[in-house]
Amino acid sequence: MSTSEDILANSTNEASLARSRARSAEIDAAIDTDPSRFRMLTGDRPTGRLHLGHYFGTLHNRVILQDRGVDTWVLVADYQVITDRDGVGPIRERVLGLVADYLAVGLDPERTTIFNHSAIPALNQLMLPFLSLVTESELHRNPTVKAELEATDGRAMSGLMLTYPVHQAADILFCKANIVPVGQDQLPHLEQSRLIAQRFDKRYGRVDPEHPVFPRPDALLSEVPLLLGTDGAKMSKSRGNTIELAMTADETAKILRKAKTDADRVITFDPVNRPEVSNLLMMASMATGEAPEAIAERIGDGGGGVLKATVTEALNDMLAPIRARRAELVANEDYLLSVLAAGNEKATAQAEATLNEVRQAMQMVY
Ligand code: TRP
Repeated sequence: MSTSEDILANSTNEASLARSRARSAEIDAAIDTDPSRFRMLTGDRPTGRLHLGHYFGTLHNRVILQDRGVDTWVLVADYQVITDRDGVGPIRERVLGLVADYLAVGLDPERTTIFNHSAIPALNQLMLPFLSLVTESELHRNPTVKAELEATDGRAMSGLMLTYPVHQAADILFCKANIVPVGQDQLPHLEQSRLIAQRFDKRYGRVDPEHPVFPRPDALLSEVPLLLGTDGAKMSKSRGNTIELAMTADETAKILRKAKTDADRVITFDPVNRPEVSNLLMMASMATGEAPEAIAERIGDGGGGVLKATVTEALNDMLAPIRARRAELVANEDYLLSVLAAGNEKATAQAEATLNEVRQAMQMVY
């Protein structure tokens, strides 16, 4: 690893992954000792409704961190919607839907700052100095950007797509977050943010000689097993194999009735040989906290039918209070708007303070 570009390209290799895991575990222990040392930022693109993969993969974890006392910031990444598509879609409805999802799962607007890109000019302005700190070839090497572009079926790379990891660095650094809960796929972005923080310090200097303007954020890797869709393939909206938080209990039952299982009536947890059956067991397990092997044993030779009924009940029971709360929230648009407005006000104050420091460090105070 000689140059920073190699570091970026290698940020998902085995050794580096092991380092990120070890660091994550250290941070996790440090949160127990003193949660007030940490500010966490994470976000979602408002491109569609959230599903179980989001819930178990990230949402639930954010609520736990919030409840452990970490200062929590959650970004509705509305400008990131336009990185890989032509229009914004029904953006207003999606942004408010995301805010409703957050609140319904237990993010508390008194403790968690919920805000959106397009409302925070000073955050977006950080993009300019940050772009001066990265090279074009480094941007082209980012493995996540490459993978995302490939997933768009031959779309031309837009300037925003190429530079969105820099925008994401602005998301993280404007509020001086020091932890970012992410999946493995986002590690290169986090490495890019760390490089930007470090290079800013080196090139433009400090306001306070004791501290750099920006902390170097760490990833908090989630160790949650990956959930597949109801057909055993990658969970994705376009495949129609997802269970959305906002679905009704009947819709959930219907989609699970069509779920793929196999010919063996005796239900066992065997992810390698029986991926579909095991994935369904995993869904029930995550919803109830019971081990997947124990659930399988109870179903015994009940076959796919009993398995599906078991999963349906487990998910619907877990989701019922979330869904009820979400329905109430969605019916109260004024409240959702007020939560976002309060978050945006707080994020704006923070972004302006950070931008002022940046101006000072860059000698641009006139
Ligand atoms: N890129 C993330 C996604 O697609 C969303 C996101 C935007 C984000 N800004 C962020 C995640 C900052 C973590 C930190 O899901």
